[in-house]
This record gives sequence, structure tokens and C-alpha cells, in this order.
Amino acid sequence: MLTDKFGRPMRDLRISVTDRCNFRCPYCMPAEIYGEAYEFLPRADILTFEELTRLVRIFAELGIVKLRVTGGEPLLRNDLPKLLGMLTSIDGIDDLTLTTNGYLLSQFAQPLKDAGLQRITISLDSLDDEVFKAMNGRGFTTERVLAAIETAKEVGLSPIKINCVVQKNVNDHTIVDLARHFKGSGHIVRYIEYMDVGNRNGWRSEHVVPADEIIAKIDAEMPLEPVASNYQGEVATRYRYKDGSGEIGVIASVTKPFCGDCTRVRLSTDGKIFTCLFAGDGVSLKDPMRSGADDNELRDLITGIWKVRSDRYSEERAASPNGEGAPRKIEMYQIGG
Ligand code: GTP
Ligand code: 5AD
Ligand code: SF4
Ligand code: SF4
Repeated sequence: MLTDKFGRPMRDLRISVTDRCNFRCPYCMPAEIYGEAYEFLPRADILTFEELTRLVRIFAELGIVKLRVTGGEPLLRNDLPKLLGMLTSIDGIDDLTLTTNGYLLSQFAQPLKDAGLQRITISLDSLDDEVFKAMNGRGFTTERVLAAIETAKEVGLSPIKINCVVQKNVNDHTIVDLARHFKGSGHIVRYIEYMDVGNRNGWRSEHVVPADEIIAKIDAEMPLEPVASNYQGEVATRYRYKDGSGEIGVIASVTKPFCGDCTRVRLSTDGKIFTCLFAGDGVSLKDPMRSGADDNELRDLITGIWKVRSDRYSEERAASPNGEGAPRKIEMYQIGG
């Protein structure tokens, strides 16, 4: 089995299918930087569906069993259901899912389901319109996202996970409302500790609400108890409501880093492989592929990268909380979550 320097296998691939987004969340793509004039990747630099499918097949041969499609906002990629259809036909992938901000999901839920998508993760940072408007940077209300969650349920995407990034003094006063709203719905809300991804969000450790505090706040109103992980290396720590009305999760990548179990590899929109969410640069698979590399050569390239992998950024950050002197990192929207 292919393992890295710390004995971690490569099992989980996340592919970014576009670097564009219709939101401008200040923690990811601040509007003042990503304005009208900002130049996203030219079409020629973006992997085609055929290239993506070929690479995913090679990754699957090397041990990938779980595939997540992300962006930017993946639903902005033309013909996305067609890509999903191509990906579902690859042997070895037993879990295919997608992360979206939900804004365009109502129209895509059925075609995605028809293409073979089984489950979905939708980002929703707050139910409070004023908070949500600020957090998506575009002044959009929650209405369309909530409608899309309904549509996703109606077409049978399941489970539906709702991701909420928690920022101190921004949306932490609305986390209990979010939990209450989805309690009993069958959907799983997951609260993510705000992270220092990328270089542009001015992250400080003071902006983080520790997962333990998030759980304590919810537990005070709606009692919770811990649940065992679904699988080793699961990012979210699970809790269920004691009254049996569902579960929630917290992703404590700042206060309880989980690098020890990290089996994730990421492919950027322009076809570079990243072995950590916080990596500075990746290695291009697109260039050799477009210069005629055959499958064996691509497999050797990926194998070579994984074998020397020693990333454990979140654990290292714990030692230097405000990342002083940290090297430049990739932006979240270029490699997805
Ligand atoms: P499931 O397959 O549904 O369990 O998904 P997941 O837990 O992998 O969740 P998802 O991909 O939705 O990840 C949720 C969030 O956790 C991401 O958007 C990131 O913010 C964070 N996250 C995911 N993977 C990593 C990782 O490798 N490192 C760090 N530091 N954070 C991560
Ligand atoms: N910290 C934590 N989560 C983040 N996301 C984007 N940027 C950050 C950050 N700095 C989340 C998005 C989405 C998922 C893809 O990652 O809100 O839910
Ligand atoms: Fe878009 Fe997601 Fe980044 Fe927000 S966090 S700007 S929705 S890619
Ligand atoms: Fe994996 Fe890097 Fe996240 Fe650690 S910080 S869990 S190594 S992606």
C-alpha cells in the first residue's frame, strides 16, 4: 500500500473544478481583492473533463476510495452533471460527494442526482440574513440556499451536511439557532473552526471559537452526547442529541488538529497536486499529461510525491498560533476545502 513518511495512506481525493465563485466570503475571497478586474484562470489552464476523469482513475488505482468535487463554487463549472456522470463510472470510488454554497443548487440538484451523486455538503454560515449577507460578501439572503436544501432533500440526496464556519464576533451568536433549525431534519450541521487558510483573510487565533465552546453552547439548550467516528481519520467529531433527533459535528482543526490521520490529497483547478490544505505550492500533473506522459508515468509521479509527504501543518500551527513567519500558502478557492 502507498503510504507517506508518517505511514498515512492516500484514500481521499478532493478536486477543484473551478477557481471562480459567485460569493465573496471575506474569509476566503475578499471582495476588495477579487473585484471585477480580478483574473481567474484562463480556460486553457483548467483541466478538461477527460483529463480529470483520467487522473481520478489513476488516483483510484493508487488507493483513492473517496472523491469530493469542490471549487471555488463547483456549480459554476459548465456541464457539471456530465462530469459527475463520468466520475461515477470509475472503479474503486465508493463515495462521491460535492461541496457547494447552494446558491445555484435548486436547478442542479436533480441533474446531479441523476448523474449518480448520492450525498451533498452545503455551506451555510448563519440563518440570520444580516450575518449571512456579510459573510457571503454579496448581500445574498439565506432564502435561495434554504430552498436548495429542500430541493436536495426532495430529489433524495442523502445525507445532507451543512457546513458552518464559525468566526468570533461575526456569527458565533447564531450557531445555536442554526442547530435548532436543522434539529430533527435529518441533516447534519457541522461547525468548522475558522482556519488560517490562504494569505488574505487576516486570520488571528483570537478569531477562533474553540469547538468545545461551540458544543457547550448548543448542549446547554439541546443536550448532546458524543458519538464514535464513522471511519478512522474522520474530520468531524460527532455528537448526537440525547432526545434522538439527529446529530451535529465539529471540525476542530485549530484546537484539535487531525493531521495524524490525514489521508487527503487535493487537485487544484489547474491540475496541481497538493498534499496539504496549507501547502505553498503543488506539483503539476497537467504539464506532464499534456506533454504526453502515459498512465504509468503519471502514477509514478503521484507515488513519488506521496511517498515523501510529511505535511502536518495544523499540528505545527498549534505551536505557533498566529503563524508568524509562515510561508505563503495556496488559497482555499484554488483547491477547495
Ligand atoms: P465527510 O466525507 O462528509 O465526512 O466530509 P469531510 O469531513 O471530509 O468534510 P468536508 O469535506 O465538508 O470538510 C469540512 C471542512 O473541514 C472543510 O471545508 C475544511 O474547512 C475542513 N477540512 C477538511 N479537510 C481538512 C484537512 O485536511 N485539513 C484541515 N485543516 N481542514 C480540513
Ligand atoms: N476556515 C474554515 N473553513 C473555511 N471554509 C472556507 N474558508 C475557510 C476558513 N478560512 C469553508 C467554507 C466551506 C468549505 C469548503 O470550507 O465555508 O464550508
Ligand atoms: Fe466561494 Fe466557498 Fe470561498 Fe465562500 S468559501 S468565497 S462560497 S469558495
Ligand atoms: Fe492534512 Fe494538512 Fe489538514 Fe493536517 S493541515 S489535516 S496534513 S491537510
